[in-house]
Amino acid sequence: MALRALAIAAIGVAMSLAVGMDSAKASDKLVAYKVVDETSIPTSLTGKAGDVKKGRKLAIHRKKGNCLACHKMPIPEQQFHGTIGPDLAGVASRYSEGELRLRLVDPKVVNEDTIMPSFYRNAGYTAVLKKFKGKTVVGAQDVEDMVAYLMTLK
Ligand code: HEC
Repeated sequence: MALRALAIAAIGVAMSLAVGMDSAKASDKLVAYKVVDETSIPTSLTGKAGDVKKGRKLAIHRKKGNCLACHKMPIPEQQFHGTIGPDLAGVASRYSEGELRLRLVDPKVVNEDTIMPSFYRNAGYTAVLKKFKGKTVVGAQDVEDMVAYLMTLK
């Protein structure tokens, strides 16, 4: 009985390790960011221009962005589009790049009650980066790629 419990515990540890490794990969270079006026993150997380094509792929990806679960988007080859969030067509005419970046990184800054996930929330303090390591949904460059893609939706 005790052995059995031990085995189950070991499986649990192995599983959480596997999950941890997976997300750690996405956030290898976890970076601090600065939210300005609670509306925007004007500065790129990586300093490297986003890749529109990669951003579009990430947005569709069911385990990464998965934006289509909640949003309608101008992505005709995908059949199912959610309706919980607003249609993202034309979103770049409504928001600046910095505002879109904040909405991906941590939409709860804009709306505490939102059900939209925070894709790169790390509380923004360097002091707790270690604790938060491996906790972001996507990597910093992934955010920049998705921002670049969203900026094409004029
Ligand atoms: C679980 C559902 C959910 C997922 C997944 C989701 N969102 Fe959202 N999103 C929302 C909701 C709901 C809103 C409405 C505003 C709010 O709740 O604060 C929103 C708002 C937005 C806005 C502001 C739009 C506007 O017109 O005001 C943007 C931009 C956005 N989401 C982008 C994305 C992107 C890009 C992804 C994928 C990387 C994504 N969302 C994934 C639910 C979601």
